[in-house]
Amino acid sequence: MWMKINEINENVRKDYKKYSEKIRGEYYFEPVGIHGIEHTKRVLLLSAMLADLNALSFNEKDILYYGAVYHDIGRTCNGIDHSHGLKSWRKVKELRILDEKDETFKKALEYVITNHSISDNQVKEFTGGCDHTRVKLIFELLKDSDGLDRVRLGDLDLKYLRNEHSRNLVGVAKSIYKKRERGE
Ligand SMILES: [Fe+2]
Repeated sequence: MWMKINEINENVRKDYKKYSEKIRGEYYFEPVGIHGIEHTKRVLLLSAMLADLNALSFNEKDILYYGAVYHDIGRTCNGIDHSHGLKSWRKVKELRILDEKDETFKKALEYVITNHSISDNQVKEFTGGCDHTRVKLIFELLKDSDGLDRVRLGDLDLKYLRNEHSRNLVGVAKSIYKKRERGE
């Protein structure tokens, strides 16, 4: 069943509101560009919906939302750049925004952000001290949220969506994009 924008629940809205406060224009090479603030906000909202649909734990959601907020801050161009995940992760470390986070969180976030921009056959197993399958799931949810926002470019390809719930969010991804385009 395709989900509708008015079905976004209160927990998802709360998570979105809390983490969207971390998004800053100065982190981006082009804050109003196709990989800038608005893209990041939409990816965060879609991530919060997928986190809810997949019943992620509080800590798992924390990793996913940090991933959504910071996944593109290392971009220096809008074209294909497989290294921008790695550059984003380096920038996260430079900004010292994870000082209060533990090593397991940092390892998982590094995995999620660094791998989001490379091809699947180069993504290795997670070995950072917590369950591989859960970190892989978080990674897939970030990839799908980022992928779903390709509706802004008109080239979303459903076969690249990984999670069982993601296909149900295509309609809502389009609505979110149109709504934010209108400034609502
Ligand atoms: Fe992105």
